[in-house]
Amino acid sequence: MNYQNILSAASVIVKDAGHFIKEHFGKVRIDEVIIKEPNSLVSYVDKQAEKILVSGLTSIIPDAGFITEEETIAQNQNQNAVWIIDPLDGTTNFLHGLPYFAVSVALRVNGKMVIGMVYDVMADDLYHAILGNGAYRNDTVIGVSQKPFTDALIATGFPYAHNDNIDANLEVFKYMLTHARGIRRYGAAALDLCYVAAGKLQGYYEGRLNPWDVAAGGLIVQEAGGVVTDYNGGNTFNSGVQIIAASESVHKMMQKNISLHFKA
Ligand code: IPD
Ligand code: CA
Ligand code: CA
Repeated sequence: MNYQNILSAASVIVKDAGHFIKEHFGKVRIDEVIIKEPNSLVSYVDKQAEKILVSGLTSIIPDAGFITEEETIAQNQNQNAVWIIDPLDGTTNFLHGLPYFAVSVALRVNGKMVIGMVYDVMADDLYHAILGNGAYRNDTVIGVSQKPFTDALIATGFPYAHNDNIDANLEVFKYMLTHARGIRRYGAAALDLCYVAAGKLQGYYEGRLNPWDVAAGGLIVQEAGGVVTDYNGGNTFNSGVQIIAASESVHKMMQKNISLHFKA
């Protein structure tokens, strides 16, 4: 497979899905919002964006499998090539009129993430990476920041179930707040990862995510020179259960504290 050609073709589809989302920004009625589980919202926009992606990406690799958040297609992760899709990451922001959300698409081949694309819809920025080829925002090469932990802005997120691991989460939050420059909770994991890749944020951590939240952004951070692991420094982050992404030195500080509060 020629990943460069696949990326070029797939970016057109990703942007198409993003343009659909943008057209509907601020237009979804309250009765069109479905509550999947407490605090987890979805609307026809997520589902239709996913359909646009699935049909476009199928025409690029006809026998690829899919792992998609909204399950608008049969999930088949046993193919050699698998697209991992979050059609709209940051749905809560989208539905509240906050312009921080993205389309996230990754391609996994034989168990390895080889392409990552995250489209910041409102900024019209496509973050992308091919394994071994660096990371980009549109045509510009990006890299993680080299600021020390004391000067770091760290992003995180909290589980939709607000009482999930609340004490451990608050302990880590307190540490970041008192030892780094500051902490942010933007609400779109895929984009948070790209902000780390682009050196705007110095670190990001979150638990209880899903593969589609981190597949593309994780590769983009790695290709931008960052370190991405689970809370114990291991490589299971693609499950989404736990992720820390940062430059090597900031990652070290974050991981040391986080692993104290979240035991393996
Ligand atoms: C969510 C966002 C959010 C994170 C949540 C995710 P969604 O994705 O990435 O930042 O904190 O845990 O589920 O539901 O908007 O696709
Ligand atoms: Ca998501
Ligand atoms: Ca989503």
